[in-house]
Amino acid sequence: MKVTIVNQEKKTDDALEQFSIDVLTGLCSKPKNLPAKYFYDDEGSKIFQKITQHEDYYPTRSEFNILSKIADTLPELLKEDEIDIIELGVGDGHKSKLVIDGFTRAKTKVNFYPIDISREAMNLLNTNIQENELLSIEGIVSEYFQGLTHIRENSTNKKLVLFLGSNIGNFNNVQVQGFLRRLWLCLNNDDYILIGFDLKKDINKLLTAYNDSAGHTTNFNLNLLTRINRELGGNFDLSKFQHFGTYNPSLGAMLSYLLSLEAQDVEIKSLERSFHFKPYEAIHLEYSFKYIESDIEFLSGHTGFEVIDHFYDDNKYFTDSLWKTKK
Ligand code: AVJ
Repeated sequence: MKVTIVNQEKKTDDALEQFSIDVLTGLCSKPKNLPAKYFYDDEGSKIFQKITQHEDYYPTRSEFNILSKIADTLPELLKEDEIDIIELGVGDGHKSKLVIDGFTRAKTKVNFYPIDISREAMNLLNTNIQENELLSIEGIVSEYFQGLTHIRENSTNKKLVLFLGSNIGNFNNVQVQGFLRRLWLCLNNDDYILIGFDLKKDINKLLTAYNDSAGHTTNFNLNLLTRINRELGGNFDLSKFQHFGTYNPSLGAMLSYLLSLEAQDVEIKSLERSFHFKPYEAIHLEYSFKYIESDIEFLSGHTGFEVIDHFYDDNKYFTDSLWKTKK
């Protein structure tokens, strides 16, 4: 597997600078918040992997079920001899492999471009997907849109972009339209995208998934404080914070918080200041928006895409929605 690094000069310095600014902004806000994108350091990615394997967390299993069912349908719909499959955000490759294998079974030549900001993510992937005469792999280490632009400049093949796992759920209703329109700008007429949306469902099912019984979700959230302690010189005492995951039915989203269990001051050395927490004061960490079919159709229509089909798992917990770019 080839790995290409796009526009990553001074990456580590810039990233740390941005992290400290975002932590400063978030902890000065009222109510306090921290951006969910910082969950995924090496340890956070490992803990997230454990969440996805836990019985209580249905989305990964559900999407696996969908992709197994549609793997041979996608090549019939796309009808290409050669295709570029681009994955935004790299997991362990198990899900993308289902899609890729469908195309190679149909004798379609596949150029697979996983894009991820982390170099390490590519190694994890490499152990689960290997090149063969019908499959070439080029890992792209960059931001999503820079990576997409790079691929578009170097290949004229039809593209299928995968944005799986309900990662889109982290965006609010304003951000999601901006994201999809930027994606549209990076694609050609009739290119495809397959997006994973978690569906609205029984609230107890949601609450169980985001408060798993093994405590992985708790560890996942607390790990962000550990990251601040390590990278920014913070002194968060993890035993003084509690994870709280709840559903907001007006927003249609799961929200996760860390609550300060007592009045306390937390110092962050690189910011040269401390932050006061009142008893039971919340830090909001994550949104995980849930959808119904009409929300998805509204979004695609408003951002320049046409829905080809929504594919569901057997329980109808989740959908992978296939869209075509319209220019
Ligand atoms: C990676 C954003 C899809 O929202 O379900 C899992 C993250 N947070 N449990 C999700 C997450 C708590 C996950 N996404």
